[in-house]
Amino acid sequence: MSSVTVVDHPLIQHKLTIMRDKETSTAGFRRLLREIAHLLCYEVTRDLELELKTIETPIQEMQAPTLKGKKLVFASILRAGNGLLEGMLDLVPAARVAHIGIYRDHETLQPVEYYFKAPSSLDDRLIIVVDPMLATANSAIAAVDRLKRRGANNLRFLCLLAAPEGVEKFTKAHPDVPVFTAAIDDHLNEKGYIVPGLGDAGDRMYGTK
Ligand code: PRP
Ligand code: URA
Repeated sequence: MSSVTVVDHPLIQHKLTIMRDKETSTAGFRRLLREIAHLLCYEVTRDLELELKTIETPIQEMQAPTLKGKKLVFASILRAGNGLLEGMLDLVPAARVAHIGIYRDHETLQPVEYYFKAPSSLDDRLIIVVDPMLATANSAIAAVDRLKRRGANNLRFLCLLAAPEGVEKFTKAHPDVPVFTAAIDDHLNEKGYIVPGLGDAGDRMYGTK
């Protein structure tokens, strides 16, 4: 089974509570998601490898640490993934970006892909797949399947909220992909919504419904 990390920093929990509140505005929801993305990004990149390079400070030459290897890829599952993506890019502006358009059919809860665009070389890069919600996990599993078919071999999945059912299904389907989440909620309801959850993340981010 892949590793599952719950990033339960007090600031994340506080901000998540405001996001869950149905009275929180669209603008507030978006801003909070971006802020939480900063804190989650810090954690999901905590073990990145560094190498030394020679630079000159105004005082003297030194060997200074810098990120090692190829640029990271952030893969956003549209639409709601973009809320996390923006915050991740604030911290790692040089990252490459993949967009994976997937929505889940409301009746069958099966994923429907409508768009895919990714950097041409995905092998040997760390790819962090982002989507605020891991419910049935059908969307996340399909996105990771797609990236693996394109050569991805080093992936992590980052979300805001997960259902226990989704965590179990995802880790069985992709045991090599570590999961990072701010919280694991109680259960999924009969419509596939996370309970207590925060509702439909995409709709709350963009004011649609
Ligand atoms: C939401 C969410 C995930 C998916 C999770 O997207 O952002 O992508 O549902 O559900 P699952 O784990 O059961 O697949 P949605 O399909 O509502 O699309 P949207 O982001 O365009 O609103
Ligand atoms: N997608 C959402 O946006 N919210 C849920 O609770 C489940 C899937």
